[in-house]
Amino acid sequence: MAASTMPTASSTESRFDQARFIPADAIFALTAQYQEDLSPQKVNLGQGTYRDADGRPWVLPSVKKARESLFEQGLNHEYLPIVGLLKFQQATARLVLGAELSAELGIKVATCQSLSGTGALHLAGLLLRACQKSPPKVYIPEPTWSNHHQVFGSLGFPCESFKYYDHERNDMDIESYYSTLERAEPNSVVILHACAHNPTGLDPSEEHWRQIAHLMKARNLFPLFDAAYLGFNSGNLDEDAFAIRLFIGEMNMEAGICVSFAKNMGLYGERVGCFLLANKSKQIAVNTQSMLEMLQRSEVSNPPAFGARIASQILGRDDLKKMWYADMITMSDRIRSMRNALYDHLVSLGAPGAWEHLIRQSGMFGFLGLSLEIVLRLRGLSSIIILTWRVKEKYHIYMADNSRISIAGLNEGNVEYVARSIAQCLQDVKK
Ligand SMILES: Cc1ncc(COP(=O)(O)O)c(C=O)c1O
Repeated sequence: MAASTMPTASSTESRFDQARFIPADAIFALTAQYQEDLSPQKVNLGQGTYRDADGRPWVLPSVKKARESLFEQGLNHEYLPIVGLLKFQQATARLVLGAELSAELGIKVATCQSLSGTGALHLAGLLLRACQKSPPKVYIPEPTWSNHHQVFGSLGFPCESFKYYDHERNDMDIESYYSTLERAEPNSVVILHACAHNPTGLDPSEEHWRQIAHLMKARNLFPLFDAAYLGFNSGNLDEDAFAIRLFIGEMNMEAGICVSFAKNMGLYGERVGCFLLANKSKQIAVNTQSMLEMLQRSEVSNPPAFGARIASQILGRDDLKKMWYADMITMSDRIRSMRNALYDHLVSLGAPGAWEHLIRQSGMFGFLGLSLEIVLRLRGLSSIIILTWRVKEKYHIYMADNSRISIAGLNEGNVEYVARSIAQCLQDVKK
């Protein structure tokens, strides 16, 4: 072999020399920490997963029934088509847009089954990137679900945060929202939480949504709805889909909707989601549909079947759909009552501070407004920082660093304990 063609790399070099160490995802790491804690007192208010009144994961009765009926019909394990189960996609479009609007739009809506809500956001990003010369700017509310930045950042979109929440007032900052939209770069994308904003639990009112839609239309901004909590928020799916239907129906705007059935059907691990794209014309929809098929093929080839079949049974059968609507009411009612119970206990125990913001919020999360110091005290484990303090009590209460709590983790057996612990920590820090 000629000297110039000999391999030159030394055995110590790696093509991954440039790999950086990325810290573990905070919420998944918190769940692992909770699972390792052996205390019987421990309370998990971290990850957003529904728990029943006894603190256990809940398989929805409608899901159980759909599952049984699938097994009775006899399941096979064949591939789904590249864009997924057609019946599931059609039923999702009808569910989210409402029967009237979805019939009116017909094939102007491109649809693609996705790996839950995250996969739908990713598909939306792939399509938006593939349809522009350079990736447009993506406006993301601050705070937000942490994965928004990762999904769009990893796809090469320039992401810009805008102020959504005023930490001083513990309330939404709608004026700041409007002024962001008024000066936003035309043709950009705006991430909109369709309902149950994560983490603040505060959504724009109907009047706010109308103004947001007008401002976005005027500047040709693309609405990308993250719809992870439809029906789970208020218990009424039509109410929760208000903003989506306003933008697409009343305002006649093109919009993308990233639908997840993780929370509202409790199908967290099955990864059931759908990306819907309301296009300006049938021809554009034919093209975007074909692009979604190509993008999905290169990403996952075709999506998983089991969860989509369950969802499809529920959405396609009147009896199961009725059960599912009742299940969503069960979940949202229990969350609402635990939110109220936490508020009542905090107030009656005289926990320092004002707590009205907690009952202004809705959905899975409560955004408490506690400092990191209090959050870590409540966790009370061997965090490096906590070791430097003299912690008398270990509360074993786990919540996200920004003091977002998953209200579903509360129940009659622990809510007073949580309130009392919060009150105690706040008093200790005041001393
Ligand atoms: C705001 C928001 N969007 C999207 C998702 C996506 O979840 P999944 O991919 O499990 O459907 C979540 C889950 O926590 C969320 O809170």
